[in-house]
Amino acid sequence: MKVLGIDIGGSAIKGAPVDTKTGKLLAGRFKIDTPLTLSPGEMADAAGMIAAHFKWRGPVGIGFPGVIHGGTILTSANLDKKFIGCDGIKLFGKEIQAPVALINDAAAAGLAEMQFGSGRNYPGKAMLLTLGTGVGSALFFRGRLFPCELGHLRMHGKDAEKRVAASVKHRKDLSWKEWGGRLDRYIRSLEDILWPELIIIGGGVSAKHDRFFKYLKTRARLVPAQFLNEAGIVGAALWAEQERRG
Ligand code: BGC
Repeated sequence: MKVLGIDIGGSAIKGAPVDTKTGKLLAGRFKIDTPLTLSPGEMADAAGMIAAHFKWRGPVGIGFPGVIHGGTILTSANLDKKFIGCDGIKLFGKEIQAPVALINDAAAAGLAEMQFGSGRNYPGKAMLLTLGTGVGSALFFRGRLFPCELGHLRMHGKDAEKRVAASVKHRKDLSWKEWGGRLDRYIRSLEDILWPELIIIGGGVSAKHDRFFKYLKTRARLVPAQFLNEAGIVGAALWAEQERRG
């Protein structure tokens, strides 16, 4: 099946048509930078521009950085708070004029990794963390997805993502060692309660995993994500396909 995958992030929205059988992009990504906070209407316009760029009429999957129940957006930690309570399927569907499926961005990345990437055919307990503007997460057992919000675990009185996201390393100019130490403590507390067997680290920073994996003393096998910037796009498309199959 051919599906347009769209990934909404903290600093850009990007999309591409995806072949859901292979997980490959069928054309180069189209990206719109969003340095200013976009309102829900403006974000829907941007999604519409991506669909128009590809002259898309078919199904669309969208990954959004917040909790999604059904088609409703329940949280928006790093985007406009006006998204909270929005019917995302209606909001984006109206602009795109095509059937839309909505999923959390990290859950989407997890689907891509478990189907075609580092977790391919992994039968046990896997945890994916995406380190970017925030920290996204998804759990898998026997290949079944459980979307979750482990980036909001409280650490030292604040959300863990405010200490360990890749954006924090950048903003606070932390060394790999300092940041790696923070990440190590965070992942260990997750391990103590979840006991994953495999941990997949995604987000742009995973391309530099050799700089910080040495500071992470996990019990679980630790691997970088295979898809770098495309996981969210591919996974959103996979989700739309799953939703259509029912
Ligand atoms: C959001 C998550 C999202 C993550 C990565 C967090 O702030 O709460 O829903 O997956 O950022 O974008």
